Amino acid sequence: MQANIVLLPGDGIGPEVTAEAARILTAVADLGGHEFQLDSHPMGGNAIDDFQNPLPPTTLASCKEADAVLLGAVGGPKWSDPTAELRPEQGLLDLRAELGLFANLRPVPVFESLAPFAPLKPELLRGVDLLFVRELTGGIYFGPRHEQGDGDVAYDTLVYSTAEVERVARVALRAARGRSRKVASIDKANVLASMRLWRRSVTEVAGAYPDVEVTHHLVDAFAMQLMRSPADYDVILAGNMFGDILSDEAAILAGSLGMLPSASLGSGKQGLYEPVHGSAPDIAGRGIANPIGAILSAAMLLRHSLELDAEASNVETAVAAVLDDGLRTADLVSEGGQAVSTDEMGRAVEAKL
Ligand code: IPM
Ligand code: MN
Repeated sequence: MQANIVLLPGDGIGPEVTAEAARILTAVADLGGHEFQLDSHPMGGNAIDDFQNPLPPTTLASCKEADAVLLGAVGGPKWSDPTAELRPEQGLLDLRAELGLFANLRPVPVFESLAPFAPLKPELLRGVDLLFVRELTGGIYFGPRHEQGDGDVAYDTLVYSTAEVERVARVALRAARGRSRKVASIDKANVLASMRLWRRSVTEVAGAYPDVEVTHHLVDAFAMQLMRSPADYDVILAGNMFGDILSDEAAILAGSLGMLPSASLGSGKQGLYEPVHGSAPDIAGRGIANPIGAILSAAMLLRHSLELDAEASNVETAVAAVLDDGLRTADLVSEGGQAVSTDEMGRAVEAKL
C-alpha cells in the first residue's frame, strides 16, 4: 500500500527517537512491499525559533493531508519562560484540535523481562494490561482561558459537554469489547459539576454496551489503587487532565516513561502518534534516549491509520524479543549496568523484523 506519513521530530530527544521509529517504518515498508512517503516538518520550539510559530501553517497543511503523523516531543527550557507569548506545547494542542483528535489511546506495555526493573513488587505486575483512553480536545486544556494583566490572578476553566464525553466514552467501550470488557471511568464527581456531567454521560452511553462492565472512580483514590492493584483494571477512561496525569503515573508499571506509546484519533482513520514522554532536555543530543515508546507508537500508526495489523504486531513482537535478549537503554539500566544507545536499540528492533 501507499501511505503519506508526516514526521514532526520536534525538540529535545524528539529527533533522536523519531529517527528510530522512521527506521522501523522504512523497514516495514521494504519487507512488505509498501510505499511510505516520510516527510519531516518543523514544529514546537524549533519552529518558534525559525518561524515564530510553534505550528507553522505549512506544517499544519501537510499534517491535514497526511494519512498519519508521527511526532517526537515538544518543549524545553529554552522556551519555558512563563512570560513567553509563544509556547511549543500550544503547537501540539492546536494540532490535536485542528485534526479533531478527541481520543488519545495510551496502552501501558508491561514486558515480562522488565518486571524486575519496575519499582513495584514483581507480583503486582502479573497480568497487568492497561489501556488509557484520554479525552484530548476538551476539558480544562481547552476551556476559555484568561489571565489578568497584572499577573495576580490566573484561571483556566473546565468545561465538558455531553457530546464530548459520549464520543470518547464510546471509543473506550468499543476498545473494551476487544479486551476484557471492563471500563474504569475516572472523575471527581464529588466536587466538580463538570465531572458529575462526565459520570452521567458515561453511564448513559454504557447502557448501549450491556456486555461491558463500567465502574466509576474518583481520581484521587484511583491514583492510589492504580499502584496498589493495577491488574484489577483494563480500559481506563479519563478526561484530558486526569488522563494526562494518570498515564504518566502508569509509566511506573512499564519500567520507564520512555516505553509508552500513544495514538490520538478522531472520527476517521487519520491519527497522530507520539511517545508519552516529553522532550527530556537533560539527555537530549546524547544518543541515549529510549526509542521504544516512539517505535511502539509507529506500530500503533500501522494498526490504526494504515490497517496493517500483522505489521504492527510484528513490530511489537520484535520489541519484546529485543528486550528478552537483555538489550536496555540507559533509563532501564541500574547503576553500573551496560546500556545500549538509541540507535543501537533501533537497529536491534529492525534486525528482529
Ligand atoms: C502529553 C504532554 C502534553 C499534554 C503537553 C506537551 C502539551 O504532556 O502529551 O501528555 O499535556 O497533553
Ligand atoms: Mn503528559
